[in-house]
Amino acid sequence: MKKKLVISTGAGISAESGITTFRDAGGLWENYPVMDVASADGFARNPALIHEFYNARRRQLFEVEPNAAHRAIVELEQWYDVNVITQNVDDLHERAGSSSVLHLHGELMKIRSIPHPERIYTLDRHNCETTVDSRDEYGDPVRPHIVFFQEAVPNIEPAINLVSEADIFVVIGTSLVVYPAAGLLEFVRRGVPVYYIDPHPAQVPGWVDVIPEKASVGMAKLVKCLRPE
Ligand code: APR
Repeated sequence: MKKKLVISTGAGISAESGITTFRDAGGLWENYPVMDVASADGFARNPALIHEFYNARRRQLFEVEPNAAHRAIVELEQWYDVNVITQNVDDLHERAGSSSVLHLHGELMKIRSIPHPERIYTLDRHNCETTVDSRDEYGDPVRPHIVFFQEAVPNIEPAINLVSEADIFVVIGTSLVVYPAAGLLEFVRRGVPVYYIDPHPAQVPGWVDVIPEKASVGMAKLVKCLRPE
């Protein structure tokens, strides 16, 4: 029976693929007022701006590739039962080949009906832009399948279950400022090894093993230490 390895990732793991993070210098929130482009109030106030913001982020997705850190996570699937929990809305974990990815904040390549949120549609690169006039097959308006600020995080329960059953927990590339994602650390069973890979790590409890490296370097080190002899 393979040990359960749970890996929680943030924007930092996609930085080396060329996707800017949110809160580093030059980050996304320096150029866009977050409450205008990523909140429920913002969507009510100016949905056209939010459709365009996510169209621009989708267009960028087609110019980037998974990086060595994404691939190292896939490599660990040889020896561990790996579950990825990500705050990221990009599809780089899936494109790298990860077999289990749980998105906490939604997915860029998905949209959903506004009146019927259970109707979720996957866009493709030839049809990836939406506007306020976009309609689904039932004629209903659609929105990005993204968890905006001020909205609930429906996948936090399954994420907590995964972390509470983990034999090893790894956190990569997140500033740990956005809850409930940042609180996953609290659900690790006592004695379970926890690693945190981040070049500018946030303050974490002493029992967390901090690897102050960028994701590709930190994951290379971690694979060396987690790979069975
Ligand atoms: N490798 C690893 N980590 C990196 C790298 C890198 N090459 N470059 C930057 N980082 C780290 C930064 O040090 C920082 O700790 O990535 C983290 C990025 O933090 P944020 O920009 O706050 O991103 P994240 O923590 O994922 O944000 C959480 O906030 O705006 C919301 O919904 C959005 O999911 C996002 C959430």
